[in-house]
Amino acid sequence: MALVHLSVWIQVLLTALAASADLPTLYEYYTADGISSGLSADQPYFILNGKNITIYSGTMHYFRIPPQYWRDRLRKLRAAGLNTVETYVPWNLHEPEDGLFDFGDGGSDMQQFLDIQQYIKMAQEEDLFVIVRSGPYICAEWEWGGFPSWLLRTDGIKVRTSDPTFMTYVRRYFDKLLSLLIELQFTNGGPIIAMQVENEYGYSPEIDLDYIQQLYDLIRGNGIVELLVTSDGARSGTTGTLPELLLQTVNFGSDPAGSFDTLKEMQPDRPLMAMEYWPGWFDHWSESHHTVSNDTFREIYEGILSYPASVNMYMFHGGTNWGFWNGASIGSGDNSQFQPVTSSYDYDAPLSEAGDYTGKYYIAKELIKHSSDDLDGFGYWRQENSNITLTSEDLSDATLDIVIENWGRANGGHFYAQYKGLTEDNEVYLNDQKLSSWTIYPLEFKKSWIAALTGWKSFDDSQTAPALYRGTLTVEGDPKDTFIDMQEWMKGVVFVNGFALGKYADIGPQQTLYLPGPFLQEGENEIVIFEEFGAAAQIKFSQDHIFTTH
Ligand SMILES: *[C@@H]1O[C@H](CO)[C@@H](O)[C@H](O)[C@H]1NC(C)=O
Ligand SMILES: *[C@@H]1O[C@H](CO)[C@@H](O)[C@H](O)[C@H]1NC(C)=O
Ligand SMILES: *[C@@H]1O[C@H](CO)[C@@H](O)[C@H](O)[C@H]1NC(C)=O
Repeated sequence: MALVHLSVWIQVLLTALAASADLPTLYEYYTADGISSGLSADQPYFILNGKNITIYSGTMHYFRIPPQYWRDRLRKLRAAGLNTVETYVPWNLHEPEDGLFDFGDGGSDMQQFLDIQQYIKMAQEEDLFVIVRSGPYICAEWEWGGFPSWLLRTDGIKVRTSDPTFMTYVRRYFDKLLSLLIELQFTNGGPIIAMQVENEYGYSPEIDLDYIQQLYDLIRGNGIVELLVTSDGARSGTTGTLPELLLQTVNFGSDPAGSFDTLKEMQPDRPLMAMEYWPGWFDHWSESHHTVSNDTFREIYEGILSYPASVNMYMFHGGTNWGFWNGASIGSGDNSQFQPVTSSYDYDAPLSEAGDYTGKYYIAKELIKHSSDDLDGFGYWRQENSNITLTSEDLSDATLDIVIENWGRANGGHFYAQYKGLTEDNEVYLNDQKLSSWTIYPLEFKKSWIAALTGWKSFDDSQTAPALYRGTLTVEGDPKDTFIDMQEWMKGVVFVNGFALGKYADIGPQQTLYLPGPFLQEGENEIVIFEEFGAAAQIKFSQDHIFTTH
């Protein structure tokens, strides 16, 4: 890239760039003479406000990063030479209950992560453009691909289609969300240069292009004027998009030339962009930790830039699936082959889960400057859609408790009926007799519930699980980042000062939980653990993230 952009913070961070101190910032370069037009894709290359631009973008999700670290992560992304940050928008966090919205002030347990306007404004302060992928479906290895589970209260609701009930909810949410984004568009002086409609719709098991048309109309009708795109694997062709309205982009992890050749055939006179190039990958529980080597990364990223094409790296910084928000994969036609995603979303990305530089960070910076494994050994969660049969000798005066955990709603595929718990597909038999009339207690583990727990007893390792355990961590001075080492525990969830940090399971690969310093306070911090099988007598901490390989 011809430009190396500089602002005050780069001087602090990167003395090596000091020689470029006379170069303008992105905004000085692209907007010095006023703003007359946004990102244009009407020719074989991108033009922004009258000037050519190659988009060097990276994905970082505000909802997967402690807000106290947003600026640090954005700075690091900019300092690698990227000019754009991309984010998905998760509907289920922003509308946690039917009609109750949280954009940073809604009072949900995730509130602190949800000020999307602040994140986008901060990106501009850090000299970055922004691409927003607002869904409503986002996949993202996130609980039900971003859909709020309360949608399932409407029997037969069909997400990702023009189903009128579904669209009524989408419309109400988009009216709210888009009203917050209007002023942040590039042509209104903000950083948003493009938005994406839906997500990999070409892979949807039920294609309904009227749905895409309705989303398009809804977005335009709400005052969004910037470039609108779709993204899909090149093999999907144009099945998931409306080519006359939307610029197509491609997603891939290898063979950039193959994908761009196909894209070029479909859109001969338009710019080429990879909306997702995967420099790493995510983990399911029980798999080996996924990595992509430095050399492979270098070869493919170089292949993209030299094609030449614009690119968004998914992920540049993965972050964390806090608490209960991870998604899951399922088989192609039903809910079989269920595989939940780990709490760590490190992704083997250029910035690690804890925000540290990796080898790929330096490779990306250098290149920009120049231009499921077999599932074995985890039968215990694969009881989806099966009846539960128990036997017992003594039936007198007994109470049977069953704990059912949602280990993540599927984030893609044939994922319409994502009910969890005891449903008509999961009947319970005791000695061949069907048990019914259950009393069902939702265990949401909300902050307020954790804070109100009483009746703690002193630790006793003969205590039967599942149970809650509590410990105190005393911090002297300013809290720093650490990792909680759960290798001596079996399976459960960790809460820090009431916040649902994430899940652990001895089957790995993840063995440690990233605990950001800002979640701790000087003095006493309460750690509560919900252990499902067997507790250890202590909680350990580690300086490094630990992933096992099988
Ligand atoms: C913009 O890029 C195109 C394609 O590379 C090139 O033909 C054109 O001259 C460039 N325009 C400017 C102003 O540099
Ligand atoms: C990638 O590069 C970094 C920095 O050069 C190095 O520390 C790391 O070990 C490399 N990773 C692999 C898998 O070789
Ligand atoms: C569970 O039992 C019901 C009632 O006997 C039966 O209809 C259903 O097929 C069973 N489900 C499975 C998955 O075996």
